Amino acid sequence: MNPADIPPSAIMHSFASDNVSGIHPEILAAIVEANSGHMGSYGADPHTAQAESLLSEAFGDGSQAYLAFTGTGANVIGLGAMLRPHHAVLCSREAHILTDECGAPQRFTGASVVGIQAEHGLLSPEILEDACARITRGEHQSLPAVVSLTNATELGASYRPAQIAAIAEWAHRRGLLVHMDGARLANAAAFQNCSLAEISTAAGVDVVSFGGTKNGLMAGDAVVFAGTAAGAELAFEIRYVRKQATQLASKMRYLSAQFVALLTDELWFRNARDANTAAQNLASRLVGIPGIEIVHPVEANMVFASMPLGLVDHFADGIHGYLWDRATRVVRMVCSFDTKPSDVDRLIGRVLSLSTTALQQPTAVAAKRGRTPVPPAQNTDNQPHNPR
Ligand SMILES: Cc1ncc(COP(=O)(O)O)c(C=O)c1O
Repeated sequence: MNPADIPPSAIMHSFASDNVSGIHPEILAAIVEANSGHMGSYGADPHTAQAESLLSEAFGDGSQAYLAFTGTGANVIGLGAMLRPHHAVLCSREAHILTDECGAPQRFTGASVVGIQAEHGLLSPEILEDACARITRGEHQSLPAVVSLTNATELGASYRPAQIAAIAEWAHRRGLLVHMDGARLANAAAFQNCSLAEISTAAGVDVVSFGGTKNGLMAGDAVVFAGTAAGAELAFEIRYVRKQATQLASKMRYLSAQFVALLTDELWFRNARDANTAAQNLASRLVGIPGIEIVHPVEANMVFASMPLGLVDHFADGIHGYLWDRATRVVRMVCSFDTKPSDVDRLIGRVLSLSTTALQQPTAVAAKRGRTPVPPAQNTDNQPHNPR
């Protein structure tokens, strides 16, 4: 069947985010299995002991893991252990902690979150040095104390171990700590075919939020403290921080059982690899469509593309993808562990059929180069809420 002949109503698989997908069957089975009898609450159960031990194995000797309900919760707990109210955390301008957490890190820690312009969301020692050189007014400005890296970045790029090590070396030399928002850490690791530790704790990261929700869990993210002296010091009293941040689950066995399944038989890797493969497939097919340009590296499970004006508004429907930025006509498509080649076929078919008319209009990139004026974006309020 020609993909262009597939009707729009047949597109049920959504590319809006990786949290629109369901629960991976192995995770659901683990939840069901954990649902037998009574067990200790607040983590005093065998599933939690096993999850903590598997996480510690994955992130290196002596590392300590604490489970949270959400990624925002994990970030708030980790940063809560690292920051005082007069501190600043440096991150990319796209960082979820700055743009998508409703100020939770600021409210909970009292610290400032300072966004820095960085291509594809990737920070470097040079970029950070330059940012610090602008903070010159002593106690009149917040004191940089933490660098937060998102891996994979919010723009779909992945930090390599050497890049992380260079940033960590720079930060530690200057007396700053390193936090990593790893909502998609599994995707970054699978893309580079490396371990979770290699692109976080082993490269010098002090505290990691390890995401599960976007990788097949029903819900759950872990805060991991590196097995270093600094990690151990930061983890001191962390149980109190987690409780105060409302992230201590009383029926923790259900969060824990999911992490046990995720870390058994490398399910985390299989899920991330499958989502990444689907993204590569999608990107390679989009590249062939006139008027569409891929604008960020595809190094995880996300594809960012600039499209003709008539096409981008279709991405506000929460199915085709997510309308990332109307002004630059950039849309984001995210693949999940269960995105099949036929789902990509359907999306490509739909894009092809819509692009016939849209192609008469310019892409954002062409418009930016000044070849054709871009009319003002319309209809900015009709996009359904598509969580990142
Ligand atoms: C990079 C990143 N960090 C953290 C989160 C936090 O996720 P949650 O919605 O579970 O709080 C998200 C979710 O979209 C994310 O994309």
